Amino acid sequence: MKTISMIAVFCFVLVTGIQAQDKVEATFGGVASCKACHLTKKSGAQYKLWKAGPHAKAFETLKTAAAKEVGAKLGVTDPATSDKCLKCHVTAHGVDAKLKGKKFTSEEGVGCESCHGAGSKYKGRKVMKAITAGTTDGATLGLVTPTEKTCAGCHNEENPTHKPFKFEEQVAKIAHPIPAAK
Ligand code: HEC
Ligand code: HEC
Ligand code: HEC
Ligand code: HEC
Repeated sequence: MKTISMIAVFCFVLVTGIQAQDKVEATFGGVASCKACHLTKKSGAQYKLWKAGPHAKAFETLKTAAAKEVGAKLGVTDPATSDKCLKCHVTAHGVDAKLKGKKFTSEEGVGCESCHGAGSKYKGRKVMKAITAGTTDGATLGLVTPTEKTCAGCHNEENPTHKPFKFEEQVAKIAHPIPAAK
């Protein structure tokens, strides 16, 4: 009898242990965790394109006189520290600090993971190649293939400087494709 209950307890611990493992949430490593493999021309230089684009300066923008002006109308004195602005101007704002890696910094602005999802589970080279080859489903590892809906998370009416958002045009401005194999 005792052995049976011990086995039952063991199985219970095992099963809940496996479930807990499954539920471990992906963490945000920041652009630093994508840069090395997405830097060269051969890979498509996604990091360089991002760095030269609008999203990389989204946090810096909050320190400008223009931002102070936008903030003043909403009763925000320091945009760079206000939830009202940071929610769209940096990656993973409001996400538990435990889910941000050591190298993560909000100063990156709107980084890769703002659109592609927290990277810890999909950023391994083998995994990334398998996702691109179609043998692994990136979505199960937290990888997001961004759509118009992803953009609308920030490009919406709640944005105090909102301008009409034309997806096709805007997405072309931030394009960073993997070069076609020759
Ligand atoms: C260890 C290297 C490595 C790291 C780190 C890495 N990637 Fe990748 N990634 C790759 C490779 C290799 C591919 C496949 C590219 C190819 O086939 O040319 C890829 C493909 C992708 C794709 C295309 C997936 C698809 O659906 O086809 C996306 C999006 C992507 N990476 C985003 C990221 C982001 C965001 C990060 C950081 C969180 C990151 N990667 C970190 C190596 C890496
Ligand atoms: C996490 C919030 C966030 C998401 C998600 C987001 N953006 Fe942005 N985007 C911004 C912010 C903030 C700026 C302003 C950056 C600045 O000027 O400092 C911006 C600026 C831009 C700009 C330049 C200004 C303009 O409107 O022409 C383009 C283009 C753009 N985003 C395209 C996109 C596209 C396409 C997507 C979806 C694939 C997207 N963004 C998703 C926050 C976001
Ligand atoms: C709902 C998301 C969102 C919120 C909240 C938000 N922004 Fe932005 N912000 C954006 C986007 C997206 C852009 C890109 C340009 C555009 O479409 O207005 C942007 C652009 C800007 C710009 C550049 C203006 C321009 O015309 O290019 C400034 C300055 C700015 N924001 C300041 C602020 C300040 C200050 C706050 C807080 C009071 C704030 N933003 C809150 C999404 C947001
Ligand atoms: C503002 C949102 C946004 C940000 C920020 C962003 N991406 Fe993307 N990314 C996209 C969109 C949209 C696509 C196109 C998805 C599709 O293929 O339909 C894409 C596609 C990709 C692809 C696949 C390209 C292909 O040809 O299949 C890679 C690789 C990638 N991104 C890497 C990165 C890396 C690395 C960063 C950061 C340095 C980054 N992205 C930042 C929105 C974003």
